[in-house]
Amino acid sequence: MKQRLLFLGPPGAGKGTQAQRLAESQGLLHLSTGDLLRAEVAAGSALGKEAEAVMARGELVSDALVLAIVRSRLDAHSGGWLLDGFPRNVTQADALAQLLEQLSQQIELVVLMELDDAVLVQRLLSRGRADDNEEVISHRLEVYRQQTEPLIAYYRERNLLAPVEAAGTVEQIGARIAALLA
Ligand code: AP5
Ligand code: MG
Repeated sequence: MKQRLLFLGPPGAGKGTQAQRLAESQGLLHLSTGDLLRAEVAAGSALGKEAEAVMARGELVSDALVLAIVRSRLDAHSGGWLLDGFPRNVTQADALAQLLEQLSQQIELVVLMELDDAVLVQRLLSRGRADDNEEVISHRLEVYRQQTEPLIAYYRERNLLAPVEAAGTVEQIGARIAALLA
């Protein structure tokens, strides 16, 4: 089974929900840069202080900061992993490719979670995280279109892209993803 995966998709598509579920059932490392950054903010670390205002605006935290976080986690881990919310732009994707080359590891599949904007916004508004208000959600979507969407072509060209319909129940979507991993 494939066990080195990226979860790509707009905010609210269910990347975190599906990655966590799969990580638990398969014993894989789930690395969400958003969760790791929120933990730094909650701990009041220097890194968290740097990230907090940027996240509240729905913009991307600096590549250097995010890369340092991912590098330290992957360096210390030899099994399978699910990267969720990273990479977020072409610079991060290139840096990840370099890091994986150093580690003699490869991305096996990029799961692209596709969902209509109206459904995304509804999901996020009913969750109510600190950055889940209409204004910031619309900016996160804009940032996604401009900076993250180019990764769809990037991974398609590398024959890694697997689009998944992300509407339906958590279980239905989980089954669609599982079918891609055999
Ligand atoms: P991040 O934490 O990655 O947030 P995001 O991309 O906006 O995505 P979400 O976590 O909101 O959505 P998701 O796709 O994970 O969906 P989820 O499963 O939670 O990033 C936050 C911020 O951190 C960024 O704005 C940026 O500032 C910074 N950051 C993070 N990574 C970065 C990076 N690499 N570089 C630079 N900056 C970075 O589901 C959403 C909701 O829907 C939940 O309530 C869930 O319960 C519900 N739900 C899920 N599935 C279903 C379903 N099938 N049916 C109904 N409800 C569902
Ligand atoms: Mg998430």
